[in-house]
Amino acid sequence: MDFGFERDLDLSGIYSLKWHIGPDELPMWVADMDIETAPCIKEALKKRVERGTFGYTIVPTEFNDAVCDWWKTRHGVSFDRDSILFSTSIVPAINSIVRTLTNVGEYIVVTPPVYNMFFNSITDNGRKVLESPLIYSDGKYSIDWKDFEKKLSNPLATLFILCNPHNPTGNIWSKEDLAHIGELCAKHGVAVISDEIHCDITRPGINHTPFASVNETNRRISITCGSPSKAFNTAGLHSAYCIVEDPFLRARIANRLSLDGVGQPNDFSIDATIAAYTQGAEWLDAIRAYLFENKDIAADFIASHCPGMKAVDSDSTYLVWIDCTAYMKKHGIDSSNTLQQLIRKRSGLVLSAGDIYGESGRYFLRLNIACGRGRLDDGLKRLEKAVTE
Ligand SMILES: Cc1ncc(COP(=O)(O)O)c(C=O)c1O
Repeated sequence: MDFGFERDLDLSGIYSLKWHIGPDELPMWVADMDIETAPCIKEALKKRVERGTFGYTIVPTEFNDAVCDWWKTRHGVSFDRDSILFSTSIVPAINSIVRTLTNVGEYIVVTPPVYNMFFNSITDNGRKVLESPLIYSDGKYSIDWKDFEKKLSNPLATLFILCNPHNPTGNIWSKEDLAHIGELCAKHGVAVISDEIHCDITRPGINHTPFASVNETNRRISITCGSPSKAFNTAGLHSAYCIVEDPFLRARIANRLSLDGVGQPNDFSIDATIAAYTQGAEWLDAIRAYLFENKDIAADFIASHCPGMKAVDSDSTYLVWIDCTAYMKKHGIDSSNTLQQLIRKRSGLVLSAGDIYGESGRYFLRLNIACGRGRLDDGLKRLEKAVTE
C-alpha cells in the first residue's frame, strides 16, 4: 500500500517547532517527522473532533490493553496490564521519576553521547550527572564496562538513565549488554529508567530488546518509558507511559506523576495511542522500510560527497549521527556548535550540534532524515555545498 511518504509536506502555519526557522532554511534537527501520521490515527482524531466536546478524560483500560498487546506482539514481552502508568510525555515522566527515586545532591549515571534532556532532568532537579562515556572505536559504540561499574559503585549513585535504543548513536543494545547492565545496577543498588521511545523504529528485520524483557532482575529494578510519538509522529499529542512492574515502585511513581500534574491525558492522546497500537502495524512496517532507505541514501551520499565526514552505522532511529572529526580537524574547527552554525550560514541547513549530547559529541552532527525524498536530497546537497565551499 502506498502511504505517500515521498511527498514533501508543507509544515508552515502549524506552529511547528522544527519549522520555526528563517526564510530559505531547511530544518533537519528536532526529532519529529515531515511525514503524515498513520491514516488510522487521522481517522480516530477526526471522529473525536466530530464529537465536539473536549472535557476531562480518563485513562481507560483499553489504553493499558493496547499498550500491553503492542509490546507483546511487536517486542515479545508480556507486561501486567496494571503496570502501565499514563504520562503526558517522557521527559516530564523522567523528571518525576528522578524526584521520586533520588535525593538532591545524589548522582545519576548516563552514557554520553546521549539525549540532551537527560542532563536537564538531572541538573534542573538539583541532582548531579555522573558520566560514563561510551567507547567509540572503529565506527562503533559500546559500553565501557569497567568505567560504568566504577560510576555505579559510587554510594551516592542511585539511578541510571538508559537510552534503549540509543539516541543519538542509533545503537540497539544486545540482550547480553542489557543483562550485564541490570546485573551491575542491581549489585550496586541503582534503579534503571529505560527510555525506549525509539524502540519501534528499527531497521526492517532487526528487533528491539526491551530492558525489562531480559530477566527478572531487569524487570524488578526498572521503569520502562514508552510512547507511540516517535514511530507515529504524534509528539504534539502528548501521550506516553511508564511501565513499572514492581508494585511499590509503581505506587510511588504513580503518586508523583499525579502530584506533578503529568498523569492526566488530553482528549486526543488516548484515541491516538489506541489507534496506533491496534491498527498501525502495517503503516509502521512501511515507514520503517522507507526511513531506513533514507538513512542508507544519506550515509552513501555523505561518504561520497562530504570529505572528512561519515555516518555512523546504526539500526535504529531516523537520526543520522555524523562523525565530522576529520573535517573539523582539517579546518581547525573545535566545536560542533561552530560547525553547525557555519553550515546553517552557508546553506540554510539546520542540524543538531553533537556537543549538546555531551563532550563526546564534540566532533559530531545529528541529521534527521524523516522526510520526503525531495527534501532529503535538498538537505544532503546543502550539506555538500556547505562543507565543500
Ligand atoms: C530518547 C528520547 N527520550 C525522550 C524524548 C522526548 O520525549 P517526549 O516528547 O515524550 O518528552 C526524545 C525526543 O527526541 C528522545 O529522543
